[in-house]
Amino acid sequence: MNFLLCIRTPSTMNIRILAVNGSARTGSLNQKILERAIEGAQKAGAEVTVSRLAEFNLPIYDADSEAENGLPQAARELQTLVADHDALLIATPEYNGGYSALLKNAIDWISRPREGGSSGVPLLSGKVAALISASPGQLGGLRSQTGMRAVLDKLGMIVIPDSMALSAAHEAFDAEGKMKDANAEKILQAVGAALYRTALRLA
Ligand SMILES: Cc1cc2nc3c(=O)[nH]c(=O)nc-3n(C[C@H](O)[C@H](O)[C@H](O)COP(=O)(O)O)c2cc1C
Repeated sequence: MNFLLCIRTPSTMNIRILAVNGSARTGSLNQKILERAIEGAQKAGAEVTVSRLAEFNLPIYDADSEAENGLPQAARELQTLVADHDALLIATPEYNGGYSALLKNAIDWISRPREGGSSGVPLLSGKVAALISASPGQLGGLRSQTGMRAVLDKLGMIVIPDSMALSAAHEAFDAEGKMKDANAEKILQAVGAALYRTALRLA
């Protein structure tokens, strides 16, 4: 009998990160910081896919509709996208002290049974995630991270401690979109790089 042993060594391993923003807003501050963290992940060696959650046009999760019609095609596509990636990089805006409905609704759909009936939760559990946030306020959206961390934790995701909550984010960028504070930019890039390294270690 022939045994084929395939060992992927870190140097040959591709780590794929899915980057998402919980804000749909044009000019989103969270999108701007997400781009910095993506840069850090890419520099470290990650392959990054940027996905705009709003473009999936997911309806608000409704169990009756799911029972009647199954999952919307867009939810299936989102499940496939998550399945194809090793880690999630999430920018989470803060609305009234919590995360956005856009983000939570997407997670709720992802967790639902896949085509064939297996749970969607294993698409997330055991995978690594990093959270960042930006807000004009003093806490930089930190409360949305706390809430989102609890959700991801419940789903079995490994949320790395590296994170960034950018306060007064409306003043953080110049007219060309460059970050005024080089240190803040460095921290954001470091979050992306840490996500890559953790995913690599677990792969
Ligand atoms: C309905 C609503 C509630 C908000 N609540 C908070 C809040 O609790 N804390 C906070 O820091 N910012 C809050 N904001 C301000 C947002 O953080 C701000 O609009 C931010 O720019 C949104 O992220 P984005 O720029 O990525 O779209 C709120 C904004 C809206 C529209």
